[in-house]
Amino acid sequence: MDALSKVIIVDYGSQFTQLIARRVREAGVYSEIHPCIVTAEEVKAMNPSAVILSGGPSSVGDEDAPALDMGLLELGVPVLGICYGMQLLAHNLGGELASSETREYGPADFNMTADCPLFADLNREDSLRVWMSHGDKVKSVPPSFEIIGSTETLEVAAMACVEKNIYALQYHPEVHHSEGGDIMINNFLFKIAGIKPDWTMSGFIDAVIKDCQETVGPEGNVVCGLSGGIDSTVVAVLLNQAIGHRLHCIFVDNGLMRQNEVEEVSSYLREHFDLNLTVVDARDRFLSKLEGVEDPEEKRKIIGYEFIEVFDAEAARIENVKFLAQGTLYPDVIESISHKGPSAVIKSHHNVGGLPEDMELELIEPLRELFKDEVRKVAIELGMPDSVVWRHPFPGPGLAIRIIGEITDERLTILRKADKIVQNELTASGWYRKVWQGFAVLLPLKTVGVMGDGRTYENVIALRIVDSVDAMTADWARLPSELLEKISSRIINEVVGVNRVVYDISSKPPSTIEWE
Ligand code: XMP
Repeated sequence: MDALSKVIIVDYGSQFTQLIARRVREAGVYSEIHPCIVTAEEVKAMNPSAVILSGGPSSVGDEDAPALDMGLLELGVPVLGICYGMQLLAHNLGGELASSETREYGPADFNMTADCPLFADLNREDSLRVWMSHGDKVKSVPPSFEIIGSTETLEVAAMACVEKNIYALQYHPEVHHSEGGDIMINNFLFKIAGIKPDWTMSGFIDAVIKDCQETVGPEGNVVCGLSGGIDSTVVAVLLNQAIGHRLHCIFVDNGLMRQNEVEEVSSYLREHFDLNLTVVDARDRFLSKLEGVEDPEEKRKIIGYEFIEVFDAEAARIENVKFLAQGTLYPDVIESISHKGPSAVIKSHHNVGGLPEDMELELIEPLRELFKDEVRKVAIELGMPDSVVWRHPFPGPGLAIRIIGEITDERLTILRKADKIVQNELTASGWYRKVWQGFAVLLPLKTVGVMGDGRTYENVIALRIVDSVDAMTADWARLPSELLEKISSRIINEVVGVNRVVYDISSKPPSTIEWE
C-alpha cells in the first residue's frame, strides 16, 4: 500500500490518539500511529504527506517527558501539533510555556483571531465550542509564529507559522464534541497538505489481495480459524479471493454456539464465497470436558485449551501449511506497540490458538491496519449481508459463560431457545443495530410461578442488552417496555423450563457485559 498518501501520527500517549487516526481515515486518507520514540529518519522512510503530533499526559518540563525529534519539522511536509504536540512545538522552536496549577478539562469557547488556512470554510465570527484537556499552556509563541485562536482563559489556544507549514491547536479537534474539528482536520489534509483522498475500501481490498498473493507465493497452504464473527470471516474471504482453495478454513464446533449458528454460517460461507471450509464436530469433546465445571475461569481455560488441541490436530492434517491467518485489528496492534515499544510481539487474536511449534507458521494479518468500522466497510464491499456485517460480538467461550453454573444439554437447549427469541425480537423491532450486544443468560436458580392452574418451579432467564462503543464501558439499553414485554412473554410461553425473565440494569463498570 505504498502508493497511497499517508499521514503519520506521532503518539505522545493521549487517550485520543486513535481518534486522530480515525478522523483522518474518515476523511479518506490513510494514517498510521507510531509511538513517539519513532525517529524522523524512520518517518521520512515512510514517505508521509503530513505529520500530526498527538496530545499526551506529560509536561514538557518533566524529566522523562517525551521529546520532539526536530527532524520531523525538516521533512518538507506540513505538521499539526495537538495539545502536548503544540507545547512541544512551542518549547522547541523558542516560545515560552507556563505551567498551570490546575488542568483545564472540558468545553471552552474558541475564537479564531486570525485568518488561517486551517480555518477555511469556517466563519471567523463564530465562536466554536471545543474540548480542552491540558495542564501546561503556551505563554508566548515562537518567533515567526502568530496566534490564530484564543479562548477566554487562554490567549494562545492555537498558533501557526504558514511559511514553515506548522500549525498547532491546544484543544482536541479529533474529539467529537469539538465544533469545527473535522473541518480543521480536513483543511489540514486537503488545503494545507494538498493530499488527495485515496483511502477507499475497494482500493484496500485490491491491495490486500495482491499483498497476500505476494506473501504466500505460488505454492503452500494457509490455515485460518473461523469463529463466525466478522473479523475472521472477512480475513477468510479476502484470502480466499487471493489464493483460492489453498486457504483452509477451520470452524471448530465446540457445542457452545447458538441455535443453528454453525450450519448457517458454514453453508453461507461455502455457498456465497466458495470457501474451503472444514467444520470440526468437537461438541462431545468440549461438553464432556466441561461436565460438572461451574467456575467461569475454569470453563474458559478448558475451552481455550481444547480449542487449540482440536484446531492443531485439524491443521496438522493439511500438507505444506506455511501461514496462519488471523483477524488482528489495528487497535490490538497499536495497543501492543504503544505500551511495549515497537518490537513488542503483537497480541494474538482471541480464540485462535498457537499451532504446534514444529510447524513454525508465519502469521498473515490482513486487517492489522483497520479499525472495526473499516472492517465492516470491507465486509459490505465484499457483498456480505447485514447479518454478518452487524453481528454482535460473541465471546469465544460461547454460551458456556452465559450459562451460570453447570453446562448440560438441557440447559444449553433452554438458553438457545431463549436467546433465539431475543435475537429475533431485537432484529424485528430494529433494535439489533442500535445496541452493542443483546443476549440471554441462564441463571443457576429456580423460582416459583403459576401457569394455568398449576404451580411451577422453573428457570430464570436474564436479558442482557447494552449500549457501548468499545465494550470498555457499557450501559443497559433503554428498550421500550413493549419490546421487553414481548421478549419476556415469548420466552415464558415458548421455552419449556422457563417461568421468569428479568432485565439486567447494571452498567459497566462496576458490572461487566457478560455475567461470567
Ligand atoms: P465483559 O464481560 O468483560 O465483555 O464486559 C467485554 C466484551 O468482551 C466479550 N468477552 C469475551 N470475548 N472471550 C471472548 O472472545 C471471552 O472470554 C470473553 N469474555 C467477554 C464480551 O462479549 C463483550 O463484547
